Amino acid sequence: MTELAIEARGLVKRYGDLTAINGIDLAVPAGTIFALLGPNGAGKTTTINILTTLILPTAGEACVAGHDVVRAADKVRQRIGVTFQDIVVDQDLSGREVLDIHGRLYRQPADERRRRIAELVDLVQLNEAIDRRVRTYSGGMKRRLELARGLMTDPAVLFLDEPTQGLDPQNRVGIWGYIRELNRTRGLTLLLTTHYMDEAEALAGQVGIVDKGRLVADGNPDTLVAALGADVIRVRGQGDCAHFAGQVAGLPFVDRVDTNAEGDMVMVYVDSGSRRLAEVVGTAGGNGFHIDDVTVARPSLGDVFLHYTGHALRD
Ligand SMILES: Nc1ncnc2c1ncn2[C@@H]1O[C@H](COP(=O)(O)OP(=O)(O)OP(=O)(O)O)[C@@H](O)[C@H]1O
Ligand SMILES: [Mg+2]
Repeated sequence: MTELAIEARGLVKRYGDLTAINGIDLAVPAGTIFALLGPNGAGKTTTINILTTLILPTAGEACVAGHDVVRAADKVRQRIGVTFQDIVVDQDLSGREVLDIHGRLYRQPADERRRRIAELVDLVQLNEAIDRRVRTYSGGMKRRLELARGLMTDPAVLFLDEPTQGLDPQNRVGIWGYIRELNRTRGLTLLLTTHYMDEAEALAGQVGIVDKGRLVADGNPDTLVAALGADVIRVRGQGDCAHFAGQVAGLPFVDRVDTNAEGDMVMVYVDSGSRRLAEVVGTAGGNGFHIDDVTVARPSLGDVFLHYTGHALRD
């Protein structure tokens, strides 16, 4: 039996009439990189805030590193690290001070703090900048400092809320490298949230797709994608989209068909896009659907998202 680093059952959080999350279940084996993928307002930060003991659930329960997040919140806090979506550090402090204060908060002795800081500054490559005020850091440097702060207490489970939000592609790939290295070399369990599909694809051994406070699908990204079909033919056009989709669904080689909420796009999942393209396109003729554009591709997590939610994952 695999040990679960994070386990949640039926987590609900309500704010008055608003339900931020509505029954989230999670089972994250130790040593996994797990990505909660979803659009703005899906409930990702709310879920992280419950798992990291910052807020109480309205209903449901969760264990992190073997401890209940409500009844044993102190024990959970000793085993985890967190980096926040909005960077909260005092910009007038130096990077070193930020890390040192964090260690003090957790009552780490001075020599241990010094040792950790030296090691982490190396890891996130902030050697040059560590004694400068955070105010002078670039966005990428601030994120790296945040990552180091989350690691000060040598956690068993690290929570990263939107670790690359607002970063340029080069800095994002850099952060991905640190995340992979932490997972590979220390066996750290990581739960990160993201609204970037490519981030979940690049990093996660397991992904949980959240929308409107619910976990609509979870599993290995490749498995989720492969379950849709080998190839997707995306047909954009005008007219009776639903009728066209129904006709295509009746073709013997079609695995499944999705349509977008706008009603101008049909996704046809097939065994081989290039072989089936002509017949799929041919079905439109005389069926009240005028095709503007067709593409053939391998399905992505974006298609998985659309399949389970009925709408596209947009930034
Ligand atoms: N303290 C609060 N009081 C009232 N509503 C809240 C509070 N915190 C979150 N919400 C609401 O709960 C829902 C989920 O918010 P949450 O921050 O968890 O989403 P998210 O998935 O992290 O979104 P984003 O991608 O924008 O960070 C939203 O509708 C949000 O407005
Ligand atoms: Mg959030």
